Amino acid sequence: MHAFITGGSSGIGAATALAYARAGARVTITYNTGPDRAAEVVKRIEEVGGEATAVHLDLEDHATIAPAAAQAGPVDALVLNAVRWGTIMPNSMDFEDVPAAEWTAALHANVVGNALLVQAVLPGMRRSGFGRIVFVSSGAAEEGRPGPGPYGTAKMALHGMARALAWEAGGDGILVNVAVAGLTITEAERPVTQEALDRIAARTPSRRLSTADDMAALIHFLGSAANRNVTGEFVRDGSNAGRSSHAG
Ligand SMILES: NC(=O)c1ccc[n+]([C@@H]2O[C@H](COP(=O)([O-])OP(=O)(O)OC[C@H]3O[C@@H](n4cnc5c(N)ncnc54)[C@H](OP(=O)(O)O)[C@@H]3O)[C@@H](O)[C@H]2O)c1
Repeated sequence: MHAFITGGSSGIGAATALAYARAGARVTITYNTGPDRAAEVVKRIEEVGGEATAVHLDLEDHATIAPAAAQAGPVDALVLNAVRWGTIMPNSMDFEDVPAAEWTAALHANVVGNALLVQAVLPGMRRSGFGRIVFVSSGAAEEGRPGPGPYGTAKMALHGMARALAWEAGGDGILVNVAVAGLTITEAERPVTQEALDRIAARTPSRRLSTADDMAALIHFLGSAANRNVTGEFVRDGSNAGRSSHAG
């Protein structure tokens, strides 16, 4: 198994790379601005006896996408985890004030960039008659929240892309799903107080927020041979805060 994980230089992507490596897969991770962080992830994988390579890929710079896929070679599992977060913080701006350039940049990177990467990897999967593709999306996009319209819109476009691909590539043994993260605890600094995190955790079905390792386990299952025939699904992690009246 060769797994290609975008945005493997930190957070959920790094944890996913380790999950694949621990299961015996060879791993290629991508980084954008963090070659040192990526090298650290490669080192951690090698320390657990795994094999990993880091390649540069910038979803905003489409010219980097095909070369990154070519450098990796044939791929059995593709995890589209990298994200261009965007420049607009939640609640910082009214919808009507979002500049056109921000819409364009979000869709250019997070939708078209991911589509181009799938296009680069798909022919090899079709040839081998096996493939697993996992998009990483967000509960904030699914449910909506005030603020980052372009981020959520781009994420929801990936749900459409996954459903189309599931039909398009299913006949060649390729299963395509979306892993929907809720608020996930990673090593990244967050402008959120512990009290706010506890409040959100209390609104989830399992009363706890997932770690990057929890998300990695979900992504790895969907993107492995253990997933025998789940496709075209949007699988929500338990870290998603509920909308129901039980959620308080
Ligand atoms: N953490 C959460 O609470 C949460 C919640 C919902 C959904 N998600 C989703 O989960 C995924 C991972 O989130 P995370 O929290 O682990 O993020 P993160 O720690 O910020 O990592 C983002 C990754 O994406 C890469 N990246 C950033 N801009 C890029 C670009 N233009 N082109 C290519 N790669 C780029 C980064 O590479 P460099 O560091 O090398 O630049 C990094 O490896 C994302 O798709 C995110 O939307 C996360």
